[in-house]
Amino acid sequence: RTTALIAGSVGKDGYRHYMEKELHEHPVVIGQTLQRLIDPATRRVVLPDLPFDLASVPRAVVTACGSAFYAGMIGRYWLEGIARLPVDIDVASEMRYRDPPLTPGGLGLLISQSGETADTLAALRGMRARQQHIVSVLNVEQSTIARESDVVLGTVAGPEISVASTKAFTAQLSVLACLAIAAGRLRGTVSAEREQEMVAALLDLPSRASEVFDQAPAIREMAAVVANARDVLYLGRGSSFPVALEGALKLKEVSYIHAEAYAAGEMKHGPISLIDQTVPIVATVPSGPLFEKTVSNLQEARARGGRLLVFTDTKGAERLRGLAEIVVAIPTVDEFTSPVLQTIPVQMLAYEVALLKGTDVDQPRNLAKSVTVE
Ligand code: AGP
Repeated sequence: RTTALIAGSVGKDGYRHYMEKELHEHPVVIGQTLQRLIDPATRRVVLPDLPFDLASVPRAVVTACGSAFYAGMIGRYWLEGIARLPVDIDVASEMRYRDPPLTPGGLGLLISQSGETADTLAALRGMRARQQHIVSVLNVEQSTIARESDVVLGTVAGPEISVASTKAFTAQLSVLACLAIAAGRLRGTVSAEREQEMVAALLDLPSRASEVFDQAPAIREMAAVVANARDVLYLGRGSSFPVALEGALKLKEVSYIHAEAYAAGEMKHGPISLIDQTVPIVATVPSGPLFEKTVSNLQEARARGGRLLVFTDTKGAERLRGLAEIVVAIPTVDEFTSPVLQTIPVQMLAYEVALLKGTDVDQPRNLAKSVTVE
């Protein structure tokens, strides 16, 4: 505990757990991280000097573990969609044993809160051996991974004490979003106008994120349903699918309830057989191009007795109120930044369930904050 306090340096600030405190730091952390990467005068992304030409890398290989991997999955949507950069992605514990045919001069992008995760470090070394340019998104900038990277893009999240990662996740997304915009500009795939729109959406996030906490009562209602479940399904599509994965991981970590996340379109290929009224279905369904598709997946689940607990935004709420048992509607934001905002309530849900289960929220059984061994 003493170590944690020193590391945290300011204790829990009156919150019940470090996880609760760190959840409430999302808005500040997003803002601080963006401040480092966006010039307030020009409102343009300014990356640190890179010792290579980002415009000419042939492809990016993204790798990380756990929550950081899910952040990387969202980053892949952005790098592909905004910068038109081909991306391969895999968890580091697999990537380190694969032998992907990589063209020298590609981008090796690693994401890690601690900068000490053994699998991620091993994957880094494998990429270095294949002459990839190593860029790491790290919260601890004096770490082993930092020392072995060509470039470190820092998340300004401050010390993250709770084993379950929360604020580091949205900080990682903030960095990845800026990287995608900068890469898009350099590769000529983003218009100046769209860049301005995306930067504005990013700069709007801290205040929108503060508004998410107004949904705490509805999230507590959801927690009361989830806390009694033995199995929970999380569903999402597109860049909301990694948010569903992150929500399921958080729930497993801190409440010890089995949870699995599926791409919503994948349900009909088998998992839908799991659904009955004992299985809550938590869905991340922001308004946007995939909204209607996901709603029809939810209708299929509802028809089989599934209890729908849905995270959406104010634009999608009306459509879902008739269908879902509980609807949490957070502010509607640009499709680009939606996964960042959607992350906060699904992490809050896991925290509220853990409170009901009475688990050791900040130090869940069997877990370490940084997995420095294989
Ligand atoms: C996330 O809540 C977990 N604590 C775990 O999955 C973590 O994200 C993973 O071990 C990676 O850690 P890192 O970001 O420090 O590399």
